[in-house]
Amino acid sequence: MLDKRYPAEPFRIKSVETVKMNTRAEREEIAKKAGYNTFLINSEDVYIDLLTDSGTNAMSDKQWGGLMQGDEAYAGSRNWFHLESTVQELFGFKHVIPTHQGRGAENILGHIAIKPGQYVPGNMYFTTTRFHQEANGGIFRDIIIDEAHDATINLPFKGNVDLKKVQALIDEVGAENIAYLCVAVTVNLAGGQPVSMQNLRDVSALCKKHGIKMFMDATRCVENAYFIQEREPEFKDTPIKDIVHEMFSYADGCTMSGKKDCLTNIGGFLCMNDDDLYMSAREWVVVYEGMPSYGGMAGRDMEAMAIGLRESMQEEYIEHRIKQVRYLGDRLLEAGVPIVEPVGGHAVFLDARRFCPHLTQDQLPAQALAAQLYIDSGVRSMERGIVSAGRDKVTGEDHHPKLETVRLTIPRRVYTYAHMDLVADSVIDLYKNKEEIKGLKWVYEPKMLRFFTGRFEHI
Ligand SMILES: Cc1ncc(COP(=O)(O)O)c(C=O)c1O
Repeated sequence: MLDKRYPAEPFRIKSVETVKMNTRAEREEIAKKAGYNTFLINSEDVYIDLLTDSGTNAMSDKQWGGLMQGDEAYAGSRNWFHLESTVQELFGFKHVIPTHQGRGAENILGHIAIKPGQYVPGNMYFTTTRFHQEANGGIFRDIIIDEAHDATINLPFKGNVDLKKVQALIDEVGAENIAYLCVAVTVNLAGGQPVSMQNLRDVSALCKKHGIKMFMDATRCVENAYFIQEREPEFKDTPIKDIVHEMFSYADGCTMSGKKDCLTNIGGFLCMNDDDLYMSAREWVVVYEGMPSYGGMAGRDMEAMAIGLRESMQEEYIEHRIKQVRYLGDRLLEAGVPIVEPVGGHAVFLDARRFCPHLTQDQLPAQALAAQLYIDSGVRSMERGIVSAGRDKVTGEDHHPKLETVRLTIPRRVYTYAHMDLVADSVIDLYKNKEEIKGLKWVYEPKMLRFFTGRFEHI
């Protein structure tokens, strides 16, 4: 199939779900009713759903088998012990706290590790992550390398932390005023860009020198491991599982959204080595999530997660995953469509600034582009630009991120190369008629995480 750069699916399809295609006139009406927010379009009205890779994974026969073995006891479910020991083995952390999804883990970490007024440096913000840091009194500081904010610069590890920025923050505020340092692998809003093992080693050494804890946002850690194997010569023969293990060996703990690299539809967890932090997390988990032996997940979901985590570290799985995303990116690049380069792990990001040069950032080009792509082709994507960035907590002004993008996020094991072709053709067609994309303005702006439920109309 195709050429060697794009390996065929390493699975057979056993169960299918049909999708329907509305007419363009219907989609125009649907988009208008949804306030031009792709989050507010019903799934039934979507032909190819690239809104997110979160919770949209297809599970394997083994995972579905695991669902039937759910132990739904309120306390001490055997599936929890399976999940706990799997995470301890694969990630190497001493303690695991289950949560309903990643943001549940972020909330608990904020409660136990941030004192109001402390800084939380991170390699580019993520929406829910920064929200929980700020909600717990933290002040986010971006420490990613400058190149990550430029869609056109092609670097192998564009998610890396800039050590000079970390040192400058330490000099400015003092290590005691830094709650912890958060390293995301891969970096979602930079375009799914990886962090190198060398950078993790260096960041860890700097943190240790100053007594600062280092937590990782582990959400897409297996995808990051693939890039390390592919791009860091030292790791070219190292199994993915061992790379993942080494990555986490440099951290004090992590938050995990199980809805991505655990190949499940719901769930998450928080890990740490420190016994006191763990005891404190056990107290908070019962407040927000549930018993420390389920944390908001059903027994069956924990079973599926334990199985999925192992499957995600199979070499053929992760190679196909990364290369399928790259296939879509390569098709767009060949046609001259502006995207964030290089193509990252979970998605292809359209560069809305260059796609819609006729719109200013305040005319919400990425939001408008995502809406128009849906109208044109039934393909659903997501804005990741000024709308997602929200407002500054102190000044109330809009953040103006340098990256104004539309994310075409590929669910794991769900779509084929033929679907990627359809998406590529739709985007290329729209690019030829880009002047038809009209700017948008807010008609309803929620105060928190506004991109989820905000509404817009044409200017
Ligand atoms: C990098 C990153 N961190 C955290 C989260 C939050 O996870 P969840 O959606 O499971 O709450 C996400 C979700 O998209 C993410 O991409």
